[in-house]
Amino acid sequence: MPVLQVFSVVLLGISLVYSTEICQETNYTIIKCGAPGKDGLPGTQGINGLNGEKGAQGPVGPAGPPGLEGRPGPKGEKGPQGEKGERGDSGASVLEALKLQLGVLDGKVTKLQSNLVSLRKAFALYRGVKLAGDKIYISDDTQAVYDVAKSTCTMAGAQLASPQNNDENQAVLTIRTQYGVSPYLGINDIMTEGTYRLPNGNVISYTNWAPNEPNQGAGEDCVEMYDTGKWNDRSCGEKRLVICEF
Ligand code: GLC
Ligand code: CA
Repeated sequence: MPVLQVFSVVLLGISLVYSTEICQETNYTIIKCGAPGKDGLPGTQGINGLNGEKGAQGPVGPAGPPGLEGRPGPKGEKGPQGEKGERGDSGASVLEALKLQLGVLDGKVTKLQSNLVSLRKAFALYRGVKLAGDKIYISDDTQAVYDVAKSTCTMAGAQLASPQNNDENQAVLTIRTQYGVSPYLGINDIMTEGTYRLPNGNVISYTNWAPNEPNQGAGEDCVEMYDTGKWNDRSCGEKRLVICEF
């Protein structure tokens, strides 16, 4: 090979290595170089790389919400004895003060009781008023059918006379005698035929029926008192003396 040709090939080889141009080898080992081609299409995604190294610890996060209340702890040790209190604060003197107040109240109650006894005695002197135990029976000579008689007493905060023992029956009889008119008692069998009840609904235990009474005559659901103090079941539509029981 002539020297000139060898030199050309070496020169071309050097230019191939250092040139940015794309070169092509021909059949005659002559290398042609053209303009760079366009970028190819993006290749397919590669396989995942290896895990990176563990990062540094992050900053402390915000405080969470408060947790549930824990169980009570064990009992603590007994504390030291406190200082002695002032005289006025001691339990004994409080008790003394209460005793004093109780004594004052007791005196007032006794006075009230005695006043009440006087009042009852004075009140009992009136016509149409009688006492029996703690009860007060009173009538102003009014006469009415049962329903009216009943509501007259109820509106006064009382109830129709309903004697529950001989003493009370005698008090009612005394008023009946004063006016000479039979009263209606609060006792009746309106709710259940043949079962006599007090105004509060309780079945009676004390009775003072006249002989052959109650005979359950037609519609006889109310009870009147004869001039003997004995009872007779009677129609509720009659006009009878109104005696209230307080
Ligand atoms: C007679 C009966 C009595 C009855 C009254 C009214 O007095 O003896 O039971 O209630 O008549 O009819
Ligand atoms: Ca009767």
